[in-house]
Amino acid sequence: MRVPMIVGNWKMNTTLSGAVELVNKMVRELDEIDSVDKVLCPPFISLAKIGKLIKGSSIKLGAQNVYFAEKGAYTGEISPLMLAELCEFVIIGHSERRKYFNETGEIVNQKVMAALKVGLKPILCVGEKLAENEAGRTEEVVTGQVSSSLAGINDINGLTIAYEPVWAIGTGKAATREQANETIGLIRRIISKLYGEKVARDLRILYGGSVTADNATEFMQQSEIDGALVGGASLKADQFLSIVRQTAEIKQTR
Ligand code: PGA
Repeated sequence: MRVPMIVGNWKMNTTLSGAVELVNKMVRELDEIDSVDKVLCPPFISLAKIGKLIKGSSIKLGAQNVYFAEKGAYTGEISPLMLAELCEFVIIGHSERRKYFNETGEIVNQKVMAALKVGLKPILCVGEKLAENEAGRTEEVVTGQVSSSLAGINDINGLTIAYEPVWAIGTGKAATREQANETIGLIRRIISKLYGEKVARDLRILYGGSVTADNATEFMQQSEIDGALVGGASLKADQFLSIVRQTAEIKQTR
């Protein structure tokens, strides 16, 4: 059985004190929900502090990005080894990184490889743009992204994939549950072809893009969707808690 997972991607929001405040608002209640993996991804600078705050709880920590080199003269970058001391997960290939920071499939591939090498668990984001969706190219784009991101990687133990249609991120325009479920099913089939049926069956695949407390249930009811990558709604403690609670309820009764 795949343990459901809800990831809060805070993006470039919260100062250090703001991050502490947000976690304090939900740490106790989040900790009590034990049938869902809860992962918080604050900005880099808050990782150490938030890590201390949630220590001993069931809440897990993730970063929003990583560089692929082990160390060296890369001013401003953060290496996988640096993160491995602080957190368990790392988001890789988010569409905002692809769009604003020119991350290519090749770079994403190197990052996934480097993260796995030091035991960091990548949350690999894939998803088509609006024009690609409208042109009926979703399958082709997502297939290409999954295969290029995992090129040359033989063991994907620890990996999670997040399907995030670019047109649904931060727009308030979520995909329909059927669309999301269908594309996630497709991703599972790609993984099955690449790594075999068992690996595909065990892989967690999340949906992301305008998930809120109001629509979480409809996504979590879908058989292929194992959780959510939540942006905007993860900055509101009550919303995030509600999404995690709904997930726990639905997935438990399956
Ligand atoms: P959103 O962001 O929930 O604000 O749409 C999701 C994401 O980018 O991970």
